[in-house]
Amino acid sequence: MELKAAVIGCGRISPMHLVSIKKTKNARLVAVCDIKEDRARAAAAANGCRYYTDYKKMLDDEDLDVVHICTPHYLHHDMAVYAAQRGIHVITEKPMAINYGDALDMVKKCRENGVTLSVMFQNRYNRAVQYIKQEIGSGNLGRVLSARIIVTWDRRDEYYLKSDWKGTWDKEGGGVVIDQAIHSIDIVRYIIGKEALSVEACIHNRRHKKFKIEDTAEGIIEFEDNILASFYTMNYFTFDMPIEITFHCEKGVCGINGDEGFISYKDGRYVSIKPLDEDKIDYGNGAKKYWGYCHFIEIKNAYEAIEDKRNVGVNGEDCLKTQQIINSIYESGKSGLKIYLKHDANI
Ligand SMILES: NC(=O)c1ccc[n+]([C@@H]2O[C@H](COP(=O)([O-])OP(=O)(O)OC[C@H]3O[C@@H](n4cnc5c(N)ncnc54)[C@H](O)[C@@H]3O)[C@@H](O)[C@H]2O)c1
Repeated sequence: MELKAAVIGCGRISPMHLVSIKKTKNARLVAVCDIKEDRARAAAAANGCRYYTDYKKMLDDEDLDVVHICTPHYLHHDMAVYAAQRGIHVITEKPMAINYGDALDMVKKCRENGVTLSVMFQNRYNRAVQYIKQEIGSGNLGRVLSARIIVTWDRRDEYYLKSDWKGTWDKEGGGVVIDQAIHSIDIVRYIIGKEALSVEACIHNRRHKKFKIEDTAEGIIEFEDNILASFYTMNYFTFDMPIEITFHCEKGVCGINGDEGFISYKDGRYVSIKPLDEDKIDYGNGAKKYWGYCHFIEIKNAYEAIEDKRNVGVNGEDCLKTQQIINSIYESGKSGLKIYLKHDANI
């Protein structure tokens, strides 16, 4: 079965999707869309498909099975809902939306219309993440006692100035937390595999005074079983350091450092996890190393699930929980209060 695909947004991340579609056996790209016509035309020419400048027209006129949303954050909700209402499966870039309410609505509309909703948290598929998830999940490390996240990246004023949507609360939805640290927060939640109960956080704008969004955040996410995950994240370091995620467990310490990992067991064993050459897919010159190389795995898995009429692996219902943590960090940072997360039993 061949699933007909389209991509909305032909900016920086789009090659990861275009290359992944090309490599996915049961996917065929039929159209791309961007309000910047030159980008849409160039992407269409490079990929041998039609192009549009109006996403609604594309979703109405093309006979699509799947749409990839690669646009600014504030547009994800409306585009996903419009697609869902036309019976088109949705693969959206992270974050799902700029707020929890929009993300919840996306989940509901996709479910009501019988389509799947995938969210790009491709780093979950990194070899080190999968290995550590498996080792913790199987109980070999005992209970997780605590976790920590350190993300110190380099996003200078020029990065924001050359974008017409980054650096704004209404279009990006925040700064370093919703855009950069979101992957690491998602990985910690994915590996711990328990509900987040509360969030306490501080947010600041320390070095990006031309913009309103936060460039620094630190705090604690409290998970069930008394697991505290602390995080420190900022984007005014002068270098994109590999992200650091560490788990202290009853039987050892394990962690992720960029795309590598380690497990140091209390009994003296030590395991080092590195990506294999075959993992390292080439998405073209524009791809950034810190985006990782697992877009293809997540996208291929999503197409297989859609064909088999299964729910996708990195699905809206699950990713909503990461969105809730992100928005709770902002709520806590702005109010100074500890935020208790409500879990909707119907999701
Ligand atoms: N998964 C990852 O690791 C990763 C990495 C980078 C970016 N992203 C995500 O990808 C998304 C896009 O980011 P980007 O860096 O490619 O941004 P970008 O600004 O480079 O590209 C966005 C594109 O969307 C187009 N666009 C805007 N409004 C549109 C509309 N109404 N209809 C059609 N096209 C429209 C813009 O013209 C632009 O070409 C964001 O959600 C971002 O967070 C994810």
